[in-house]
Amino acid sequence: MKVCVIGLGYIGLPTASILAINGFEVVGVDINKNRVEEIKNLTFKTTEKDLLTLVRGAINSGNLKIKNTPEKADVFIICVPTPIKNNRCDLSYINSAIDSIKPYLEDGNLIIIESTVPPGTSEEIYNKLSKYKNIYLSYCPERVLPGNILKELVDNDRVIGGINKESAERAKKIYDSFVKGKIYLTDCKTAEMVKLMENIYRDVNIALANEFAKISEELDIDVWEAIELSNKHPRVNILRPGPGVGGHCISIDPWFLIEKSKEAKLIRTAREINDSMPNYVANKIKQLTKGKNITIFGVTYKGDVDDVRESPAEKIISFLKEEFNIKCYDPYAKEFKYPLYPIDEAVEDSDLIVVLADHKIFRDLDEKDIKKISEKVRNRVIYDTKNIITKERWEKFGFKVYKLGGKND
Ligand SMILES: NC(=O)c1ccc[n+]([C@@H]2O[C@H](COP(=O)([O-])OP(=O)(O)OC[C@H]3O[C@@H](n4cnc5c(N)ncnc54)[C@H](O)[C@@H]3O)[C@@H](O)[C@H]2O)c1
Repeated sequence: MKVCVIGLGYIGLPTASILAINGFEVVGVDINKNRVEEIKNLTFKTTEKDLLTLVRGAINSGNLKIKNTPEKADVFIICVPTPIKNNRCDLSYINSAIDSIKPYLEDGNLIIIESTVPPGTSEEIYNKLSKYKNIYLSYCPERVLPGNILKELVDNDRVIGGINKESAERAKKIYDSFVKGKIYLTDCKTAEMVKLMENIYRDVNIALANEFAKISEELDIDVWEAIELSNKHPRVNILRPGPGVGGHCISIDPWFLIEKSKEAKLIRTAREINDSMPNYVANKIKQLTKGKNITIFGVTYKGDVDDVRESPAEKIISFLKEEFNIKCYDPYAKEFKYPLYPIDEAVEDSDLIVVLADHKIFRDLDEKDIKKISEKVRNRVIYDTKNIITKERWEKFGFKVYKLGGKND
């Protein structure tokens, strides 16, 4: 069976490769010529464990071809971006991906949409296409964790929504080839809603943690300790506060439901709370610094990944850059809007180090590393918005340590 995967980013490339390894004839398509070349030449950068090996194996097996344009296939899987524009889902990438496969579509083909979309989108696409062709269409959302994609692609349970039962069953056959988790079948609209509900659940929970952090600062309580103790309750699981919610999913997807319903009041408020955090943190930085030189540790949207999309660091820097000299250090980030420096240069004459991503390497900085940093900085002050650094170690070298949601001392 031949599968054409449209969009070879975080989701599409692992999906195409895993299908190829499992015996499908796969054509991976991306409109970005550089992306096509770096995949073909195996020069693409990634922090996904074993992705390079998987892609190499898939290409060497002869089952995975990487191209710029689609070709005829039995199944088309759509994995293109769905960003927001004016707080609404921008479906232009989906629409052009669908347009690009139209000339190759034949009766009996199956289209699977994996991109995150507002409920009702798959039905609209089907209604347009089915005027011309007798096709099957399913919506199969991705719920993988960046940094652990290959494992989760296989192990996670999947929800597959079909435009009709036959569409869902046909899509299930594809995923059955590599998914070890359970596969649940439903209709398209429900599957689209499920994907949004999962991310909204996390966004609202993080907003609650952020609100707790702000209140704790006001009341002189350590929010991290309070959350840890609250989570000892068997039915409580409060997430962690932070400098803002970034990434390609949680900070964006709630808007896809807000645009569809006036009832989405809590969801909107949560978004607003989380969106207020970069400004809140920037103001705190202004209060804490004794000079103009700020060092940022971690610019990715979360720890141990290379992804800077919607990263709070970018927003925080935009609030500070006119007034302060900012140097960023992040060994994972591939590209960032602002220059990245090696750690030695980033901390040179620093007045305040701000930790914005919970990379494990920040927790693991040992006494030798911290001593070196302490000798380079101008003022020994560190503000940890992720509660990741080992406070005592930094204090040993004369650092004053502040935490988001920490006590005032
Ligand atoms: N990254 C994640 O962890 C994740 C998790 C779950 C769901 N999703 C959803 O999956 C979708 C894809 O996300 P991603 O992170 O893989 O995006 P990405 O930006 O990493 O990759 C998308 C790729 O699609 C290509 N592209 C755009 N238009 C195209 C077209 N018409 N034809 C061919 N290629 C095209 C781009 O060049 C890019 O390489 C989004 O809707 C996203 O919300 C992502």
